[in-house]
Amino acid sequence: MKNVLLTGGAGYIGSVLAAELLRQGTSLTIVDNFCTSSRSTIETLRRIEAQHGACLTVFDLDICDEAELSSCLRLSKPEAIVHLAGVKSVSESVVAPLRYYEINLIGTLCLINAMRHAGVFHLLFSSSATVYGNPQKLPISEDHPCNPVNPYGRSKRMVEQILEDLSATDPNWRIMCLRYFNPVGAHNEWPLGDSPIGPPANLFPIVAEAASGAREYVSILGDDYPTPDGTGIRDYIHIMDLVAGHVAAIQAIQDGASRFSCVNLGTGEGYSVKEVLMAFEAATGRHVPTRIESRRSGDVPACFADPGRARHLLHWNARMSLRQMCESTWHHHSSRHTVVPNSGGA
Ligand code: WQD
Repeated sequence: MKNVLLTGGAGYIGSVLAAELLRQGTSLTIVDNFCTSSRSTIETLRRIEAQHGACLTVFDLDICDEAELSSCLRLSKPEAIVHLAGVKSVSESVVAPLRYYEINLIGTLCLINAMRHAGVFHLLFSSSATVYGNPQKLPISEDHPCNPVNPYGRSKRMVEQILEDLSATDPNWRIMCLRYFNPVGAHNEWPLGDSPIGPPANLFPIVAEAASGAREYVSILGDDYPTPDGTGIRDYIHIMDLVAGHVAAIQAIQDGASRFSCVNLGTGEGYSVKEVLMAFEAATGRHVPTRIESRRSGDVPACFADPGRARHLLHWNARMSLRQMCESTWHHHSSRHTVVPNSGGA
């Protein structure tokens, strides 16, 4: 695939994917309104563009502006679009559901209308394991019932259903929904990683902050779950593996995948909060202070993928270990923040 457009290409996943596509010489267009991402990311991507003789075009654009989006697609004529633009905080979606439906649903409707008018029919959608809700069976395969339990997960599931209905209207459509489990870590060469504008809500960046002294401790949100050590289990996947899954999916669409499919992007391994903390201390030599606190509403005890369909359809599987995810997270954090002397004992 030589000409790809990323919506939300300046975000966490988008910027790492952009770096990989530029490294591969792809002609890349990024559409982003920078509401949850930094323009400094584009400066880094420009350096990669220059180093690899690639071609990067950036549109500072809101995907809900359908007219502008249409002219952007007519100009860039992408062979495929990876739709990453959206909002993704579970807790925020509970207090501001309309923002989630407006951006995640209406934004996608604007995009697919613009695609139809520009004659672009190959689409990868950034979906999420939250579409499954509280798992009834583990590991989770794509056939597991989808009963999302928060507005964020519902918005992702609604978009998947819209895209499935759309794919049946025209044999040209090739649509793949990639259901991410828990992306962590950073790019293996460039300063591109999870750099939330506000305080982080996810475990890995919070652990990195506590390890560096930027935060007093990590709250272990519940140690009374029905899991081996009582803490929540998740399927953490290194961002470089996740991005390799996207590259494989772009190729699969080009090679003539089915009109519509959903694919899990996870490792198939679940790790508890306590296992992550131990791995982080072992990987970094840093002590991570913790405190046991009550469960966070909306959290499920355990969630990890059956990655079999990705292996079969995309000829892809995750390779990076939990230790490598911790090392990558720590390198990204400590290279951008002050690190206080180790509080000992790790
Ligand atoms: C992981 C585990 C917490 C913070 C979310 C979104 C999901 C996806 C990834 C977008 C859980 C525990 C956490 C803390 C803790 N994002 N935890 N102390 O909730 O599995 O998934 O991010 O697609 O859609 O829902 O990730 O990193 O917040 O939590 O003990 O300070 O760590 O209870 O067991 P989550 P998380």
